[in-house]
Amino acid sequence: MNLPVPATKIHIQKAASILTAGGIVAIPTETVYGLAVNPENDGAVARLYTLKNRPAFNPLIIHVAHLALAEQWAKMTPLARNLADHFWPGPLTLVLDLRTPRSHLALAGLKTVAIRIPSSTQALDLLKAFSGAIAAPSANRSETLSPTTAHHVFKSFAGGAGPDMILDGGPSAFGLESTILDARGDVPILLRPGSLSLDRVHDVCGNPVILPHDLDAPDTILSPGQMRRHYAPRIPVRLNASSAGKDEAFLAFGPGGHDEQSYPTLNLSKTGNITEAASNLFSMLHTLEESGAIAIAIAPIPNTGLGLAINDRLTRAARS
Ligand code: TXA
Ligand code: MG
Repeated sequence: MNLPVPATKIHIQKAASILTAGGIVAIPTETVYGLAVNPENDGAVARLYTLKNRPAFNPLIIHVAHLALAEQWAKMTPLARNLADHFWPGPLTLVLDLRTPRSHLALAGLKTVAIRIPSSTQALDLLKAFSGAIAAPSANRSETLSPTTAHHVFKSFAGGAGPDMILDGGPSAFGLESTILDARGDVPILLRPGSLSLDRVHDVCGNPVILPHDLDAPDTILSPGQMRRHYAPRIPVRLNASSAGKDEAFLAFGPGGHDEQSYPTLNLSKTGNITEAASNLFSMLHTLEESGAIAIAIAPIPNTGLGLAINDRLTRAARS
C-alpha cells in the first residue's frame, strides 16, 4: 500500500480519476477519514466491503457537494430542507426516501438513503473534481477505532490490501462521525449520535429529537451499522474508572491530578469541555492502544451535549 500523499489539487485530481476507474481513495472529512468510492459502481463497492470486512447489509453514506445533487438522490422533506439550510455543509447525515428506486449495492437494498454535504474543503474539492456523488464509510476495518488522521488509515490497512490512495488533509476537525437523523417525517429521529449536538438540532426544529427507546438495547438496530460492538481498540476498555489498574492506560476527563501517574495517561479535556473531548476521543484511543498497556481505563463522561455520542462509542467499544 502506498504512503499517504498530501491532499493537494493535483492529488485530488488524481483521486477523482481513481474513483472514475472504480478505485478506492481514503479521504479527509471534517468528521473522520472516509473510504471514498463511486456508489454507482457495484464492483468497486463490493471491493470496499471486502477491504473493510464490512457486512454487505450495512449501507453507505452518500456524500454530495450541493443540494441539487442531494435532491436527485433523496426526497427532501420540509424538515430535511430546514436541517440542510442550517447544518450543511457539515457533520449531519439525513436518512430520507430515495427519489427513484436504485439497486446499488451501496444502498444495501433499502428504499432510503443516508446523505450529507461535508464541510471539509478537501472533501468538497474531490466531490467537485469527481462531479458526482461519493459513498464513504469510515476508513477503518469494521469494528475497529475510527480514523481521524491519514496515519490511522494507513495503520488500519498496513500489511494487507488497502485503498488505492490515501489523501492526507491533516487531523479531522471534529474527530467523531456525523450525527445521523431520520428526517422523513415532521420530527427528526436519532439514528446515531455524532458531531452535531442534539441541542443545536432542537434549536432549529423547535422539537426535541426523538430518541430511540434505548440506544443501548442490543436488538434495536435502527441504523443497520449501529452494531453492538464497534469502534473498539485492540485492547479491552474499562468504563467509569476512577484510576488505572496495573498495566492499564488511563483516559481521563476534566481537571484532576492524573499527571503524576506512571501509566500512560491522556486527558480528553483538562477543562472538562465536552466538545474538545469528542474531538480527541478516537485519536487518544489510537495512541493508548499503542502504548503497550494491557487495557484502557476510561473516566466517566457526562452524558450531556456531545457526551451522548462519546458514551455511545464507548459503550460499543467496551462490549466483547
Ligand atoms: O461522519 C461520517 O458519517 C463518516 C464520514 C466518512 O462521512 N462516515 C461514516 O460512515 O461514519 P459509516 O459507514 O462508518 O457509518 C454510516 C452509518 C452506518 O451505521 C449505516 O448503517 C448508516 O450510516 N446508514 C447508511 N444508510 C442508511 C439508511 N438508509 N438508513 C439508516 N442508516 C443508514
Ligand atoms: Mg464506521
